[in-house]
Amino acid sequence: EDSLTRIRNIEMIELGRHRIQPWYFSPYPQQLTVLPCIYICEFCLKCVSSQTCLKRHMSKCLLKHPPGNEIYRSHPLSFFEIDGRKNKAYAQNLCLLAKLFLDHKTLYYDTDPFLFYVLAERDERGFHIVGYFSKEKESADEYNVACILVLPPYQKMGYGRLLIEFSYELSKIERKTGSPEKPLSDLGLLSYRSFWSQTIIEKLISFKEESLQLGEEKQISVNDLSEITSIRKEDVISTLQHLNLYKYYRGQHVIVITDELKDAYRRMLSKCRTRIDPSKLRWTPKD
Ligand code: COA
Ligand code: NA
Repeated sequence: EDSLTRIRNIEMIELGRHRIQPWYFSPYPQQLTVLPCIYICEFCLKCVSSQTCLKRHMSKCLLKHPPGNEIYRSHPLSFFEIDGRKNKAYAQNLCLLAKLFLDHKTLYYDTDPFLFYVLAERDERGFHIVGYFSKEKESADEYNVACILVLPPYQKMGYGRLLIEFSYELSKIERKTGSPEKPLSDLGLLSYRSFWSQTIIEKLISFKEESLQLGEEKQISVNDLSEITSIRKEDVISTLQHLNLYKYYRGQHVIVITDELKDAYRRMLSKCRTRIDPSKLRWTPKD
């Protein structure tokens, strides 16, 4: 891929109240690459060359939120679903912006086959973009995420986890399992590894408690975990191996729940992060 070998070409972007230094190359128009800073409308994501142009644009731009349907609201956070065919300009601008922070993904000029799920934070001025993930309308490999990004000013605050959790909630409604498109970046892998671990630990602990209450000694399988969480079987297994909970015992694989696991669970609860409330999701899959 051509963009792989090209170096960072944009010095700085201004997006809403943020100034952000890009990480990687993105194919913005040549004439913008010579400027010390480029200006992006935080609502429609159109890019212009100066503050004056942005002011002029903002006086005409009617958007105060991403286009498309608001499919989730838990104040102050909302998710918008954008169809890459119906809102092509927005989708292309979003891909251009995202490419600034993604090194190994090819940029999709053809946004038609994708849906975009944009996470935005609301205040009195409007809905401000925090991050997004894209998803193929039809994925031969059953991927439930193509690209995922949290904008740098919002990173390491739990929004990546929230996006990932949201992507699996969509898969649950579709009654499918899913997995992110490969290859994952280092940060992507860290975030998925952490989400998978937390989700599986939580399910194992509640399964253990249930069976204690019932006084039954039941087994939980990889298939069960995959079905409950919509996490693909291979990812469940790799996570169990990573957590050292997958043991070969008397000729078969078993999942073992150890005291270490309970400690990990307690540590996890102490982080008390924002979670997706599935009852606030208004969405049905298109077919
Ligand atoms: N260093 C160490 N750990 C990190 C990290 C970093 N820079 N960034 C995230 N993590 C870990 C967190 O510790 C957390 O794990 P924990 O809950 O066990 O503590 C987990 O990853 C998720 O953190 P979170 O704050 O929800 O992630 P984020 O909001 O920063 O978003 C990405 C994660 C991957 C979306 C974000 O880093 C990003 O947009 N990166 C650039 C684009 C990219 O690489 N996308 C993936 C392409 S496949
Ligand atoms: Na991209």
